[in-house]
Amino acid sequence: MKVSVVGAGAVGASCAEYIAIKNFASEVVLVDIKEGYAEGKAMDLMQTASLNGFDTKIVGSTNDYSKTADTDVAVITSGIPRKPGMTREELIGINAGIVKTVSKNLLAHSPNVIIIVVSNPMDTMAYLTHQAIGLPKNRIIGMGGALDSARFKYRLSEALECPASDVDGMVIGGHSDTGMVPLIGRAVRNSILVSEFLSSDRMNQVVEDTKVGGATLTKLLGTSAWYAPGAAVSEMVRAIAQDAQKMFPCSALLEGEYGLNDISIGVPCIIGKNGIEKIVEIELSDAEKEKLTESAVGVRKVNDLL
Ligand code: LAC
Repeated sequence: MKVSVVGAGAVGASCAEYIAIKNFASEVVLVDIKEGYAEGKAMDLMQTASLNGFDTKIVGSTNDYSKTADTDVAVITSGIPRKPGMTREELIGINAGIVKTVSKNLLAHSPNVIIIVVSNPMDTMAYLTHQAIGLPKNRIIGMGGALDSARFKYRLSEALECPASDVDGMVIGGHSDTGMVPLIGRAVRNSILVSEFLSSDRMNQVVEDTKVGGATLTKLLGTSAWYAPGAAVSEMVRAIAQDAQKMFPCSALLEGEYGLNDISIGVPCIIGKNGIEKIVEIELSDAEKEKLTESAVGVRKVNDLL
């Protein structure tokens, strides 16, 4: 499995690092436009190979996409990250052009590539990628829900005072502070609904903290987060590499599912060797359906800016 990660900033480098440490890929190519930057990150990471015990080869490239030739899975993290006080949506002007160029460059060298879009505003960037290069819809996947769900599980574990491995939960909808729909009514601790343990006020707090998960970190760090985004991407890439048929909420191009059309937004998907193997349609409650519909209105408003 050859993986290319475009953008060697914090998210891209963290993604490359987790992929290497998990040791399932033969090669990771890091690409960046800044002269020598990807090469430097790749070399630094390669010098951890004997320490961290991985065999994945990491290569850097300054904007030379010929190095990405025959990539199986490409991850687009390019563009500017948000600064404190900014929404993901404010990045659209700069990031749209970058994502379009990058996706075309990737496809030119890897006709069979599966693309995972991470750049923000992510749902709109995933939609734009579909429009720009027109691959079958299973081969363009937006990464948001896997990260937001991990943040949801963190907040649940905090509220329940238990390890995150004890809890399960999923976030659907748009990857934005207002668009996320944490499915709190379905969240469980070892198969028991969390409503058995938490007051409705505490559950609401978990939902609100989850939705602003990225913004909270941006405020603390002065820039967008990278460890959890990198780890979330690496798990999706692993699911493709190992044909795991694993369920993640992903931003998928919808054609009638959940009553939505011509939009890329977070819904449960099965991920395997073909990318999105299946969009899973679950029966949402009326309240959940309403939140997802509202979230779609928000995503469409951003799409309209394209
Ligand atoms: C975040 C960015 C990756 O949520 O959107 O941290």
